[in-house]
This record gives sequence, C-alpha cells and structure tokens, in this order.
Amino acid sequence: MKTKIGLIFGGMSTENEVSVMSANSILENLDKNKYDIYPIYISKEGEWYQYLKLDKIEISEKLENIEKIDNITNYLQKLDVLFPVLHGLYGEDGTIQGLFEILKKPYVGCGVLASSVGMDKAYTKVIFDRANIKQAPYIYLKKYKDTYIWVDKEFNEKKMSLEECVDMVAERLEFPMFIKPSNSGSSVGINKAKNKEELKKHIEYAGKFDNKILIEKGINGQEVECAVLGNEEVVASCVGEIKSADEFYSYDSKYQNENSKTLIPANISEEISEEIRKLAIKAFKAIDGKGLSRVDFFVEDKTNQIYINEINTLPGFTKISMYPKLFEAVGIKYSELIDKLIELAKEE
Ligand SMILES: Nc1ncnc2c1ncn2[C@@H]1O[C@H](COP(=O)(O)OP(=O)(O)OP(=O)(O)O)[C@@H](O)[C@H]1O
Ligand SMILES: [Mg+2]
Repeated sequence: MKTKIGLIFGGMSTENEVSVMSANSILENLDKNKYDIYPIYISKEGEWYQYLKLDKIEISEKLENIEKIDNITNYLQKLDVLFPVLHGLYGEDGTIQGLFEILKKPYVGCGVLASSVGMDKAYTKVIFDRANIKQAPYIYLKKYKDTYIWVDKEFNEKKMSLEECVDMVAERLEFPMFIKPSNSGSSVGINKAKNKEELKKHIEYAGKFDNKILIEKGINGQEVECAVLGNEEVVASCVGEIKSADEFYSYDSKYQNENSKTLIPANISEEISEEIRKLAIKAFKAIDGKGLSRVDFFVEDKTNQIYINEINTLPGFTKISMYPKLFEAVGIKYSELIDKLIELAKEE
C-alpha cells in the first residue's frame, strides 16, 4: 500500500509564492511508486483547494486545475501523512500544526510549541538566552495603539512615546541596529538603522507588521547556516555561508538579486564549523524541535565569536535552497531527505 501524502503549500503569508516553489521541487522528487500524492493549495485568503495535476504546479489568477475543498477535516482524514511546505504565518507558526494534532494525523516537521517559538523572534530569544546560546544584544518593544511598551528581561512593562523609546534604545545599544517585527519571515519588515532618525522610522515601519518589535545590535561578520534533521537523534549538516548582494540579506537579495550567493562549505575554520554544528542541535533541542530546521548564525569578523540569529522550522525547500543543499553536501540526496522526513513524521 502506498502512503498517502498531503503536500500542503501556498498559505496565508507573505511567503505564499516561495512556498509554491518549494512544493514544486518536493513534488518532482517524491517517489510516485512509494507515495500517492495529494497536492493541496491554500490561497492567501485562506481557501483550501485540491490541485488536480501531478506535474508542475502553477497557480494562476484564474485558479485553473484546482478544485475547492469544502470539508477540510474530512479531506485530511483520508490521508496518511501531512507535509506542510508553508512558510511564515499560519504555516510555520504552529497554527496549522495545531489542526493536524486535533485530527491526530502524523505530519512532517516541528510541533505546535517549537513552531510558534521559532516563528516569534522575541520568544526565540528568551529560549536561547535560557539555553545560554550567545546572541546579539537586543531590546523588546510592544506597540499598543499609539504608545510603545518597553518590556524588560523580566517582562516588566513601561509605557512610553516613540521618541522616548528611541532615546532609550540609543543609550543601550550600539548602531547599526536591526529592527524586526517579531513574527517576520523572508526579511519582510526588517531594516537596518545607522542613526536615531532611521531607528525611529524603522520602529514605526516594523510596527505595521506586528505589535511586537525586536531591536538588535548589528553583528559585523559572516552569515552562516546549518541544517538539522531528526527527532530524538538529531544530525547536523555541514555549515554553509550566505554572501548577500545587498548590505544585508533583505527580501530582494534573497529572491530577486542573482548576485546573492551561497557558499558550501562556509569559509570558516573546522573548529568554528564544529562549534556551529553543536550549537545548531542545541538550539533545535532547546525549542523542542522535531523533524527539521535550519539554524542561522553570525561569525563576528574581529572576534570569531558565534552568535545565533534565528531558527527556521520550515526552511525553504527548493532544489537550490540552503536546507537541502547542506545535506546534499554531506551525501544525503534531495529525494532521500524527503523520504527521511516522512519516516520521522510517522515515528512521532
Ligand atoms: N543582529 C544582526 N546583525 C547583522 N545582521 C543582521 C542582524 N539581524 C538580521 N540581520 C540581517 O538581516 C537578515 C534578515 O534577518 P532575519 O534572518 O532575522 O530575518 P527573517 O525575516 O527571519 O529571515 P528568514 O526568512 O530567514 O526567516 C539576516 O539574514 C541578516 O542579513
Ligand atoms: Mg533569516
């Protein structure tokens, strides 16, 4: 009997198109002799559709080759394993994982808790602090109507104006700084500030995406990534490096600028690479990760200090994405990786 796989893609996030690309690569590489594949498209508006063809997925404005799924839970119940290839909100943040839990269906990747912690940058920071993994110094703000709320490390809150916030941040962190909506993905809403004016502008901008805002000291160094795979027994890939075409790895430099390059393995010493691999597994365990994640770090130029940046519980999965490429570099082929992820889902 073939395993019935529900390949769920698209999604109600800014990363809908990226997800379609990831799903296409997976669809192409899933062994049709082993699996019966049910491609499921979630539109940006949150409508669920069955995709009726098994070749290249193309989502057109006219919504051709797709049929609306009226009863989502009934539809999912008849499948054996669910494979969410969704990035960002409602896909990577534990919400859809909660639906799978209620339906008691095995699914690929992290559970509810790890997904939501990984998606919320402020809470990822709390867990990594607790795990003693070094990260850039940061400040956590909340926005409530027209005021801002300073949240200290013990979660004490203090209301203040934007101007007061800017002054306090500038006293405590060095420029340049990175300002991020807490729930960001694909760099959406993220900016770099070199002075107080920019800081003010970018805090306001980040506040349009989320009412939780994170401000971090900019780390000057190499940007490196490590992939992990497993449930209890977790393996780490080799370490890869991002060479961004822009000043930082923005949305454009990720998906639009062909001058952004990846380097596998990263141009770092064996010793640092080993340390990063260990830290990647530690970070994955710290958030209670399952299945897969890509863990991103900075290696500071002057000091060689390693800083963790973030953990992505559903990383990009196109054939040229970092996650599969990092495992390919250590001898695990793309199709084997998918098989392994499905096995891990069944094991849970
Ligand atoms: N503290 C920092 N120091 C230096 N550069 C940073 C810092 N924080 C973020 N950046 C730059 O901004 C980019 C986007 O930030 P980050 O990775 O936190 O966002 P993201 O939207 O979660 O990305 P992803 O799509 O990987 O989830 C990073 O890849 C890096 O180039
Ligand atoms: Mg990132």
